[in-house]
Amino acid sequence: MSTAASDLNKPPREFDVVRTIVWIFGSLVGISILFTIVRLCIRKMKLSTTTDLQAGIHNPAIVTAPPVQVWQLVDAATMERFLHDMAREKSIRFTAQELHSFTMNYSTRLGSGGFGVVYQGQFPNGIKIAVKVLSKSSDKRVEEQFMAEVGTIGRTYHINLVRLYGFCFEHKMTALVYEYMENGSLDKFLFSTETPKIEWEKLQEIAIGTAKGIAYLHEECQQRIIHYDIKPGNVLLDMNLSPKVADFGLAKLCNRDNTHVSITGYRGTPGYSAPEFLLHNYPITHKCDVYSFGMLLFEIVRRRRNVDSNQGDSLDWFPKKVWEEYGNDGLKDLTMEIGIEEKDREKAERMFMVALWCVQDSPDSRPLMSTVVKMLEGGVEIMPPSNPFRYLYSVSARDVVGTGSNNTTTTSNDSTWYKDSTPIMGKYEIQMATSS
Ligand SMILES: Nc1ncnc2c1ncn2[C@@H]1O[C@H](COP(=O)(O)OP(=O)(O)OP(=O)(O)O)[C@@H](O)[C@H]1O
Ligand SMILES: [Mg+2]
Repeated sequence: MSTAASDLNKPPREFDVVRTIVWIFGSLVGISILFTIVRLCIRKMKLSTTTDLQAGIHNPAIVTAPPVQVWQLVDAATMERFLHDMAREKSIRFTAQELHSFTMNYSTRLGSGGFGVVYQGQFPNGIKIAVKVLSKSSDKRVEEQFMAEVGTIGRTYHINLVRLYGFCFEHKMTALVYEYMENGSLDKFLFSTETPKIEWEKLQEIAIGTAKGIAYLHEECQQRIIHYDIKPGNVLLDMNLSPKVADFGLAKLCNRDNTHVSITGYRGTPGYSAPEFLLHNYPITHKCDVYSFGMLLFEIVRRRRNVDSNQGDSLDWFPKKVWEEYGNDGLKDLTMEIGIEEKDREKAERMFMVALWCVQDSPDSRPLMSTVVKMLEGGVEIMPPSNPFRYLYSVSARDVVGTGSNNTTTTSNDSTWYKDSTPIMGKYEIQMATSS
């Protein structure tokens, strides 16, 4: 009797089966919905670089810049191709006609340099671009080689590197299309009296961000990229004054590795190029960028050029003065003399010390750029640098050729430059670049 009653209370066996099927089906639906949501999120993140472009295309209201008549040339299908290439992180190939249209017949010239002239332009939806038209002499190489190298530059992404959107390679024109940097180059802010002064804190961020960009080129790319032309003109600033290194890969692309160095200007005004370019006493390596960065650092701290154009052939240029003051315990006085506020003086001294390490005569004695970043960020104690300018005391540059390697006593041991952080170093801490 009791068995019959309990059997009655139990749900029929078919009901169990149905419930299990419903449960499995429900779980499958749930999992697939979850999976779809995750996929959509990932896709959205991947396409984030192109959303502005798409928004501009589909919603003209978003486009703030005046319309350009490029739609006759760039139809929706072409634009789709651009977007597709961008999403796949591929450099876009533009025709000369398209660039002509994007730049409104090259009407706004941003400047010119060793490789060609730079013009402002915009994509049809208002995204601003900078088009660098390479001088004729630089495009001797064959199309495949050009495209392979442009492809490498185009795939090199870092928050502190100017992005290459695409290129043009035609018989009549070779050009590179870059993201537009609203605030132009750093030299304007450092040296021009007409441009507002950048706050000291921001200047430090610019130094650290620039160092990070170069460190990425040297140490994190699949194939090391040596810039060869680090200088304030090649540090561009976006609308928030965040720095991005421009023109990396160009020296190789344009076959100008060793030729874009002003040898004549070197003797009295060494500028940014490392001494080994002139003295041939060391092989040219990525450490030539570290030297140039050091020279840039002196200029950032002082907001003036290291080389005074009235100086003539004098070797008394600012970096040497920093070294002498350092030797006489006078760095603090020097920071005062150049107008740095009391609260910032320790940081400025630190930047000078880093710069003195960067401009060491022997490339092996210069730190890696990732080490430079650490030194600037203040997490490590900086060891006393050696005299970087011994070679300048030689009778002439020519006399030093072949003997330069004997001029240095420092080694390439990474710990030479800094000691690991100690609690005391906390007070020297320089603000980390907000862009990291
Ligand atoms: N992506 C960009 N966005 C905004 N302005 C740019 C951009 N690229 C270059 N410019 C401007 O064009 C000017 C000229 O640049 P260009 O690279 O041709 O010369 P340079 O940097 O002085 O010398 P180099 O040829 O050695 O790089 C720069 O000083 C800068 O003001
Ligand atoms: Mg440049």
